[in-house]
Amino acid sequence: MNQEYFRDLFPIVATHIHLAACSQGALAKPVSDAIDRYKNSLLESGTNWGETIKKVAETREKFAQLIGAEADEVALLCSVSDAISAIATCLPSEKNKNKIVFTDIDFPTVSHIWLRQEVFKNDISVIGSIDGEIPLELYEKAVTHETLLTSVPHVNYYNGFKQDIGAIAEIVHRKGSLLMVDAYQAAGQIPIKVKEMGIDILVAGTRKYLLGIPGVAFLYVKKDLAQKLKPRATGWLGQVSPFEINNPVFHDGTRRFETGTPAFISVYAACEALKMILDGGVGNIEEYLIKLTKLAIEYGQEKGLNLAGPEDVEKRASLISFFSENISKAEELLRSKNIIVSPRKDVIRIAPHYYNTGDEIIKAVDELVIAQNI
Ligand SMILES: Cc1ncc(COP(=O)(O)O)c(C=O)c1O
Repeated sequence: MNQEYFRDLFPIVATHIHLAACSQGALAKPVSDAIDRYKNSLLESGTNWGETIKKVAETREKFAQLIGAEADEVALLCSVSDAISAIATCLPSEKNKNKIVFTDIDFPTVSHIWLRQEVFKNDISVIGSIDGEIPLELYEKAVTHETLLTSVPHVNYYNGFKQDIGAIAEIVHRKGSLLMVDAYQAAGQIPIKVKEMGIDILVAGTRKYLLGIPGVAFLYVKKDLAQKLKPRATGWLGQVSPFEINNPVFHDGTRRFETGTPAFISVYAACEALKMILDGGVGNIEEYLIKLTKLAIEYGQEKGLNLAGPEDVEKRASLISFFSENISKAEELLRSKNIIVSPRKDVIRIAPHYYNTGDEIIKAVDELVIAQNI
């Protein structure tokens, strides 16, 4: 699907410049229609369990296709935090193989979850970034033969720094550690191939570059690993026989991580949004977004804005952060001009998607410069 056709699917572009895909992607008409379909099926037929369970299966398959996995290596959950927590309940820790490594550029929920695990909380090491980036040498140092799991974000949610997942996988596997990737800021804008990249576990939600709404997240666990894990965060939908009370038997593969009734309305949205991303082609989307990212950085710097994170587009994603002295005021001023951006700490994040244009980037940067100077 070409860019112009894709853009036409988003009603908001007629009135707003939406540059906040790192927070909440814009709502497409087909996704909005899918939400209506769920609601209408309840209004019109009263109950829709069979249809919705099929939709869950279709959505799992689409996400699996997106990341180059098998459908039974994917579980559908409600949030990324749920997915990481479920993993934390069942990692097979042993004496001398019990350390958890994560980074200070992980989304805070990663730290919260590991620090809440009694078995791991005293065996954690956090890799400190340098200017919001993590050179590979820091992984060489921090990950040891005692590391059970290394958790990394694909893209830094604060400044758009993109990590070389394949290279990190090589290091952590050499030390015998599992690799878990939080791909929430990458999925939908960067091609992900879990097998080729050497990812053991991956988590991602749907409301950012995957263009869904809150309520759906995915957990990928490679098959032979999933088969060994026994999540203690569980429920009837994780078992082969949901109505059998005694001796529950886990589903094969990663579906064992599913728990209770999913947020069906969000599943309808996710399924349609994934279809759009697959039709657009993540390779095409990435190629287009590299151009917009380059434009945002070059034009922003030319206008005197101060970039956070790497200048080199090879090392970053479509999430461009400019330092701002008063982020709330800047966001408000931009919003008054119908420009939606996302403030975080001391930066304004501009996060274009395939529905944006170069003219929108120029306009947003111009207005940000004005906001900075008021
Ligand atoms: C990279 C990343 N990971 C995790 C999360 C948290 O996801 P959830 O609210 O689904 O647990 C976010 C939310 O913004 C995020 O950006």
